[in-house]
Amino acid sequence: MRQSGHEYVLIIDFGGQYNQLIARRVRECNVFCEVISYKEISLEKIKELSPEGIIFTGGPQSVYGEGAPTIDKEIFEMGIPVLGICYGSQLMAYLLGGSVKTCETSEYGKTDTYYDKSCPIFGSISELGESAVSWMSHTDYIAKLPAGFKTAAHTDNCPTAAMFDEQRKLYAVQFHPEVNHTEYGRAMLDSFLKNVCGCKGDWTMEKYAETAIADIRRQVGDGKVLLGLSGGVDSSVLAALLSKAIGNRLTCIFVDHGFMRKNEGDEVEQAFADWEVNFIRVNAKDRFLSKLEGISDPETKRKLIGEEFIRVFESEAAKLGRVDFLAQGTIYPDVIESGSGDAAVIKSHHNVGGLPKDIGFKGIIEPLRMLFKDETRKLGQELGLSDTLVKRQPFPGPGLAIRIMGCITDEKLTILQDADLIFREEIAKAGLDESIGQYFAVLTDNRSVGVMGDFRTYDHTLALRAVTTTDFMTADFARIPYEVLEKCSARIVNEVPNINRVVYDITTKPPATIEWE
Ligand code: XMP
Repeated sequence: MRQSGHEYVLIIDFGGQYNQLIARRVRECNVFCEVISYKEISLEKIKELSPEGIIFTGGPQSVYGEGAPTIDKEIFEMGIPVLGICYGSQLMAYLLGGSVKTCETSEYGKTDTYYDKSCPIFGSISELGESAVSWMSHTDYIAKLPAGFKTAAHTDNCPTAAMFDEQRKLYAVQFHPEVNHTEYGRAMLDSFLKNVCGCKGDWTMEKYAETAIADIRRQVGDGKVLLGLSGGVDSSVLAALLSKAIGNRLTCIFVDHGFMRKNEGDEVEQAFADWEVNFIRVNAKDRFLSKLEGISDPETKRKLIGEEFIRVFESEAAKLGRVDFLAQGTIYPDVIESGSGDAAVIKSHHNVGGLPKDIGFKGIIEPLRMLFKDETRKLGQELGLSDTLVKRQPFPGPGLAIRIMGCITDEKLTILQDADLIFREEIAKAGLDESIGQYFAVLTDNRSVGVMGDFRTYDHTLALRAVTTTDFMTADFARIPYEVLEKCSARIVNEVPNINRVVYDITTKPPATIEWE
C-alpha cells in the first residue's frame, strides 16, 4: 500500500531468493517500496498505486518454461521506469521481442563485468570504472536485444549483462545489484531511483512516525487496544508508538511463557514499571509446557505457541472488558519469511503463521508490518526509547522453545538458560556485545560420551551461535576469538550440569538460518 505523501516504488516478485534484499536496499536509498507477487498485480492495480518506478525481481524459472511467471507487456507502455533484475531482465527482453537462450557456461558468484558508462545508471557513479565485480546467478541470458535497446554491460561469458532504452526509461541488469558482492550495486539502485525515477528519497523515520500515529488514530477511533509485549525491540517500539497515538487506551500484556532467557521475565517487568501504560504480566509457563509436551517438530512448536499466545490474550482481554484490537509487532521480514508473495515458506514466525483464524477481536493492528529491523530501531530512537531497549538483540517470540531441539522439558529449559547466561556474560566481558548482531546458546538433541574426573559421562551437546548482520535476512557467523570461545566452553561444561560438549556454529545465512528451528 502506498504510504500517504510518500514516494513509492513497486517491486514485482517473480519468486527469486534475493527479493527482500532488493526492498531492503531501496529503503536504504530512503525510498518506500513494497514487494508484490506478479500473481497479485494487474495494470489497474499499478495505475492505482501509481509508483515512481517498478523493479522486476529475479526468479528460478526460464522465460520459455511452462507456466513461467510473466506480466502484461502493456506495463512497458505506462511511462513508468522499469528496472529488470536477473529473471526480470530476461522477461523484459523476451516480452519486448528480444530473445533469451541458455548459457553454454552458467555464471554463478563474483564475476568481472565491463560497463558502458553512457548508460545513465552507471554513468552517474563516478567511482565506477570500466570494469568491476558483479554477483551473477543465472543459466539463461539475453541473446538478442529488443528494438530500441543498447547493451550497457557485458562479461566474458555473457554478452548482455545490462541493457537499456533511455527514451522509454527501461533498464535491465543480469546481475544482482542488491547483493553486497556487486561493487557499487547499491549506488546503481540509487541511481535508478533518483536519476531515472526522479525520487528524492523522502522515506525517513521522523515522517514515518507522524504518518503511523495518524493512521493508528484513524483505524482505532475511540477503541481499546491490547498489545502482546515481549520486551523485545519490536513490541517495545510498538508500545511506544501506540502509547503516543492512543495513550491509556492501550493495555500491554506480557505473557511469560517460561521460555524467556534467565531472569528475563523480571527484567521486562522492571523495564516497563515506570511507563505510563497499563501493564499486565501473565505467568503461563505450566500452560505452555503442557501444551508442548512430547512435541519435537519445529513448525508444530511454533504454531502451538502462536495459538496459545492468542488464547492467553483472549482470556486476559475478556477480564479487561471491551477490547477492540490486538496489536502485534510483526515486521516485514516476518511477513516475507512466512511465505507472503512467492518466496518459499522458511519458517512460520509465531506472530504470523501461527495466528488462528477464529480470533476474538474486531481486528489486528500491525503498524510495523512494512518495516525492517533496523528501521524499527530507528523508529524507536525517533520515539525516544532508551538505547538498552532499542539496541537489545532480537529474541524470537517462541523464545527458548525453538532453541531446544526435540521435545521441551523443564529440566532442558534450566540447562539452556544457565548455559545461555554464561555465553552472554562472556561476550559482554569481552566487549563484543555491540558488534555481534545476535548471540545465543542452542541445546541440541545430541548426546555424546565424555569423561569428567574419573567417570564416563553421556550428556548434552550445546551449540553456541553468534552472527553479524544488519538486516537479519542474511548473516555471517561472528569471528569470536578462540580465547573467548575457550572461556565460554570451559565455564559451561564446568558450571552447567548435564552438558559435556560445546560446539560453535560456523554457518552463514543462507544457507542456514539464524535460529536452529
Ligand atoms: P531466522 O532464524 O529466520 O531468524 O534466520 C531471523 C531473525 O528472526 C528472529 N526470529 C523470530 N522473531 N518470532 C519473532 O518475533 C519468531 O517466530 C521468530 N523466529 C526467528 C530470529 O531470532 C532472528 O533475529
